[in-house]
Amino acid sequence: MRAIRYHDTGGPSVLTVDEVPRPGPGCTDVLVEVRAAGVNPVDVSFREGAYPTDLPATAGLDVAGVVSAVGEDVTAVEVGDRVCATGVDGAYAEYALAPANNVAQLPDDVSFVEGAAVGLAGVTAWQAVVHYGSPLPGKTVLFHGGSGGVGHIGVQLAALGGARVIATAGAADRRDRVRDLGAGDVFDYAREDLGTAVADVGAPDLVVDHRPETYLELDLEVVAEGGTLVLIEGEFPETSTAFLSRVKELTIQAVSGLNAPDVGSTLGDLVGLIADDRLTVEVERTYPLEDAAEAQRAVVEDSYVGKLVVEPGA
Ligand SMILES: NC(=O)c1ccc[n+]([C@@H]2O[C@H](COP(=O)([O-])OP(=O)(O)OC[C@H]3O[C@@H](n4cnc5c(N)ncnc54)[C@H](OP(=O)(O)O)[C@@H]3O)[C@@H](O)[C@H]2O)c1
Repeated sequence: MRAIRYHDTGGPSVLTVDEVPRPGPGCTDVLVEVRAAGVNPVDVSFREGAYPTDLPATAGLDVAGVVSAVGEDVTAVEVGDRVCATGVDGAYAEYALAPANNVAQLPDDVSFVEGAAVGLAGVTAWQAVVHYGSPLPGKTVLFHGGSGGVGHIGVQLAALGGARVIATAGAADRRDRVRDLGAGDVFDYAREDLGTAVADVGAPDLVVDHRPETYLELDLEVVAEGGTLVLIEGEFPETSTAFLSRVKELTIQAVSGLNAPDVGSTLGDLVGLIADDRLTVEVERTYPLEDAAEAQRAVVEDSYVGKLVVEPGA
């Protein structure tokens, strides 16, 4: 089978199309014939060597496709089922192994591209908004980066749950699209009076931040007394201890989508919402397998609403 691998860490040029043996499932694995693979910024971090990885490695974490084989302990899915999964060992390939706990059935009216796109971004958004934000009715949620893969799902989950949603995004057209997804107020993240603009709408009970090195001070200023700040990425600024000493009562929570409990059932809930037309996963572009390096360049350099997807069969 063909797989996009890297034999060394580095820039997009380390990705090669390799011919490799099809993997066999261990006891708790599901072998998926990959129809679509989601592209995430963390795929680039792995390729660049930010996390310890055995080389050569196959890129990618999110897939949707058809079950080709199952390990002897797997009972939830069968050969021939349409599924999606995250936390996969090498998604940019014609076949990929998924841990059974991270697999969900894909409803017939949800496409493979949508199923692959929802993956890690959807589970992370769910953990941030539904798991740590519920009950949502009557709450105000601030989602930084509401146009991103995680953000555009998080905005919809918060609105669906009954929260008033404030989001940030870049250009005006993307801010308009985030409004269409359910955010009542969407501000340009570059504006200098962002904190005042948010505070004028109302103190957020839940703030979801992917760049605390830039926004932590603003978050602490605007978050409601007793509120929750969820961090999905980034680092604390060096000055953090200085202003943490004057902070209000709040909970600070880190989210790791890949290590969340019940990943498979959360994915099932997400694709169920898509099937019911209550959640949209925006896919900006799809790429054939051999253009995976261009997809990885785009996921960190380009701006768009939603997700990018690689299609091995295209
Ligand atoms: N903890 C976890 O398990 C987990 C899981 C998934 C992702 N993440 C991390 O969460 C972050 C978002 O992931 P993603 O998949 O949504 O990435 P993405 O699709 O690339 O989205 C990035 C978002 O950041 C916004 N942005 C760009 N520059 C910004 C700035 N200066 N200030 C504020 N926002 C800015 C973008 O807005 P425009 O495009 O409108 O400019 C976009 O909304 C990444 O750092 C990713 O690594 C963590």
